[in-house]
Amino acid sequence: MYLRSLYLQQFRNYKEACFEFSPALNLICGPNAQGKTTVLEAIHYFMMGRSFRPSQQQDLIQMGCPSFYLESIFCKHEVDQKLRIFATPKERKITYNSTQLANISNLVGLIQGVVMTPDDVNLVKGAPLERRQFLDIQIAQVNPLYVHHLTRYTKAMRQRNQLLKQKNTKTIDVWEHEMAHAAAYIIKKRYQTLQALQPYCQSFYAYLTQEAEELQLEYRSPAPVAQQESEIKNFHLYQFHKQREREMLLGQTLTGPHKEDIWIGIGGKDVRYFASEGQQRSCVTALHMGEWQLLHHHADDRPLLMIDDVAISLDEKRRERLLDQLTSLGQVFLTTTDTHLLQAFEGTYKIFSLP
Ligand SMILES: Nc1ncnc2c1ncn2[C@@H]1O[C@H](COP(=O)(O)OP(=O)(O)OP(=O)(O)O)[C@@H](O)[C@H]1O
Ligand SMILES: [Mg+2]
Repeated sequence: MYLRSLYLQQFRNYKEACFEFSPALNLICGPNAQGKTTVLEAIHYFMMGRSFRPSQQQDLIQMGCPSFYLESIFCKHEVDQKLRIFATPKERKITYNSTQLANISNLVGLIQGVVMTPDDVNLVKGAPLERRQFLDIQIAQVNPLYVHHLTRYTKAMRQRNQLLKQKNTKTIDVWEHEMAHAAAYIIKKRYQTLQALQPYCQSFYAYLTQEAEELQLEYRSPAPVAQQESEIKNFHLYQFHKQREREMLLGQTLTGPHKEDIWIGIGGKDVRYFASEGQQRSCVTALHMGEWQLLHHHADDRPLLMIDDVAISLDEKRRERLLDQLTSLGQVFLTTTDTHLLQAFEGTYKIFSLP
């Protein structure tokens, strides 16, 4: 799969622009603040219906304008397809070929891909939410049912928390059943995805760093994750019931997929506390390259790969090893301020020089 073209109108700093991409390597070069990250952001919007930067829809609209419009043509299984997004601060219309999509879950998965940004170091250093989202995004891209269960869980938890705050347990059972059912599905999928991801990440980490110590990933949950979904569901039903009294004081649910984490280690040690900056960056790179491999495995197609500010994250040797891999990965988008980077590529690539 690859993106043939991208048209942006009144999107961030772009009044109007059109990009015709190469199905292989695309290098977006230029000084600071010219709109390099914005191009990746627009592509990501087609993947997930949102930016990868923390921003509201309104922030994406060019200052002083009422709306933005994005259009992309992508080629999947050798058929050209069109996606269009029109958005105002309060409304949004997404059209796939000639069909208007009812919600975001219909969009997610049409264009599959992986994005690496300098902020991704938070995958290692940041809060558990970052790591859960890392898993959620990749599962959502191949499994629409997962998005359904995530939404179901969040809605039911909101209701339960409301009842806890009101100290009202009359109908709480209904919501706990709903939550336990969705939780079992979510946790099982996260656990299985991490198990499948680990060998890909390990082999990329070993290749990138040439270190003997192994990268390890573990899904951290109090639930019996290795058992059947029904066991995970029963565990939650029991916990929700047992903790009600305590949770009423806090007005929130303390157990469930919204509280869990991924443990990341190198040679048995937690990367947050023991790894160097470079090792942490290498971990993040390995996590994303593993994500790409697993998506590729599930999708029977090559997902897009986008790397924002490729030059800043790794030392020279590690960067060279990463760049060496990129020419064999289908469609790749790299942004950089460093034009020397071009010398690293001998194969074919297309350059976009901004401004
Ligand atoms: N809503 C908006 N309207 C107009 N301009 C915007 C809007 N949002 C962001 N910008 C501007 O768009 C410009 C491009 O931002 P972007 O992050 O894409 O730059 P970049 O080329 O990736 O820069 P860097 O090399 O520093 O990462 C910035 O100057 C930013 O202030
Ligand atoms: Mg940038």
